[in-house]
Amino acid sequence: MAETPTGLTFNRRASGLKKTSAGIFCCLVVLVVSCTFLYSRYLTSLFPVENLAVTNNREPTQIMNLDDTLNFGARKGVETRTSWKAPIIWEGMFDPNLYDQKHIQNQTSVALTVFAVGRYLDAYLKTFLTSAEQHFMLGLKVIPVEKHSRWQDISMMRMKTISDAIESDIHHHCKYVFCFDVDQEFKGRFGSEALGDSVALLHAGYYKAPNNSYTYDRNPRSKAFMETGDYYYHAALFGGLLENVKNLTNYCFLNIMEDKLNNVEALWHDESHLNKYFWINKPSRLLSPEYCWEPSIQDKDIHVIRLIWAPKNYDRLRTG
Ligand SMILES: *[C@@H]1O[C@H](CO)[C@@H](O)[C@H](O)[C@H]1NC(C)=O
Ligand SMILES: *[C@@H]1O[C@H](CO)[C@@H](O)[C@H](O)[C@H]1NC(C)=O
Ligand SMILES: *[C@@H]1O[C@H](CO)[C@@H](O)[C@H](O)[C@H]1NC(C)=O
Repeated sequence: MAETPTGLTFNRRASGLKKTSAGIFCCLVVLVVSCTFLYSRYLTSLFPVENLAVTNNREPTQIMNLDDTLNFGARKGVETRTSWKAPIIWEGMFDPNLYDQKHIQNQTSVALTVFAVGRYLDAYLKTFLTSAEQHFMLGLKVIPVEKHSRWQDISMMRMKTISDAIESDIHHHCKYVFCFDVDQEFKGRFGSEALGDSVALLHAGYYKAPNNSYTYDRNPRSKAFMETGDYYYHAALFGGLLENVKNLTNYCFLNIMEDKLNNVEALWHDESHLNKYFWINKPSRLLSPEYCWEPSIQDKDIHVIRLIWAPKNYDRLRTG
């Protein structure tokens, strides 16, 4: 039943990501706050020469809207813009230097949350964080924040935890937040080109599939029920401006709670509710499946793998 979230503790720790207590679900939220100096140093010393399809050579200071530099014709065979004109970000469409320079000028700050439960903490967290240090919004500073909860329902807990973390902590430091599942590993640049007001990820398994195969929730009794939609989004990551992500997580949490009261559960848990949210509130930016690829799928349109995803089984973990 829907209880109020009691017993949550929120301890800022200087370092160390160890699981502190066995037998309860642990949720670890890692905040990453940008450090402008490191970011700039990275750019001047490590950035390779780019050979991009982007032809715009204006100084970054003169560019009003960075997304006007996107080359929507750079990629044949894949969709680079939605019907509501949101860009779908693919390798070759953007100039990474330009995006990074502009965000450094603006001192853009990005928080990263990663949600790790039970054995996932041990199994995946180290790989996730080590690879994030190498590829995610490079040069950022990590502030780990550990949370514990006795909630049984993992997908419900995640949305609530992210919403709480935005409210209590992230909003002091950051403008944007990206939320990740932990069972993923960064393999290539996941940079400032991914930042946007409201960011959704195209699911690797469905982005080329006909829309009648999308696994939306089809149960009219669930709040996540959808008959039709734009795309099938993957909940393994989502992001955007803090206020938008807070709105999304609150929406999903409240609808999951309502489903629980009605004794229904959406087909793909919080992913079903996320898809419903993005159907009603169109994302302003879509990330191609490069940003979370399933390596067992062969696809010639994936030129760069930025993050890989390992499927998991929530049900196995849902024990008392
Ligand atoms: C930088 O800040 C300016 C002024 O607030 C804003 O118009 C612009 O969109 C920002 N650019 C980026 C890349 O965030
Ligand atoms: C699939 O997309 C078409 C065209 O946009 C639309 O008319 C149809 O309703 C969609 N079907 C489903 C099952 O979502
Ligand atoms: C927040 O979500 C609600 C519910 O979908 C929506 O009506 C509202 O427009 C959203 N607000 C923002 C700022 O996105």
